[in-house]
Amino acid sequence: MNKISSQPPSIIAIDGPAASGKSTIGLRLANALGYLFFDTGVMYRAITWLALERGIDIHDEARVTALAEEAQIDIAPASRSDGRSCDVFVNGREITWETRGRKVDANVSIVAAYAGVRKALSQQQRRIGQRGNIVMVGRDIGTVVLPEADLKIYLDATAEERARRRYEEIVAHGGTPEYDAILGRVIERDRIDSTRDVAPLRAAADAVVLDSDQLNADEVFERVLALVR
Ligand code: CDP
Repeated sequence: MNKISSQPPSIIAIDGPAASGKSTIGLRLANALGYLFFDTGVMYRAITWLALERGIDIHDEARVTALAEEAQIDIAPASRSDGRSCDVFVNGREITWETRGRKVDANVSIVAAYAGVRKALSQQQRRIGQRGNIVMVGRDIGTVVLPEADLKIYLDATAEERARRRYEEIVAHGGTPEYDAILGRVIERDRIDSTRDVAPLRAAADAVVLDSDQLNADEVFERVLALVR
């Protein structure tokens, strides 16, 4: 593992579109710094999973928002090395892999566009992030949740490259995905995330934009480390 000298930034925000490698890079960076890693997407996924599980209509904004205000979401360090970056619990039940499923993927951006859902979840995210010594990953961390972050990175790549990575991740977990379907969901999620009224996906004015199309995970990590040092 790379050692970090001098005083690294305390609050590090990594934003970017679906499957741009934010979680992989964020987790590695947090481990190298001895920081907490917090993937905020898991909170939106947990609410989406819970709504689907309860048979709530995803388009029923009021009911989904009430759920986000009441649900108890907990994140804990990964209890297993099966590719997860953390354990995810909702109302005491472990749902880590359920939140990565196809159905959640297809519906999470609808849920994440609701102003009340964002208010409930981003308040919790901000409270945790302000403690510092944290790498926080999402869509609006540098713009809305923690605009005071010491370092902001916007990780980008083409939709095709991101879909290819997500495809390989699913294959590595024994799945038999369809590339075109994954690409379609990635494009649709990006469209909803970047055109919503509240906290749309965009790079903060003071973010460092990293295009990872031509870079593998190690090369992206080296660039990120250079920004931290
Ligand atoms: O891992 P991946 O990049 O595919 O997605 P994620 O980070 O788990 O986020 C899932 C969804 O949650 C996104 O497509 C957004 O709709 C939403 N999200 C958000 O709106 N704001 C955040 N800070 C994090 C996620």
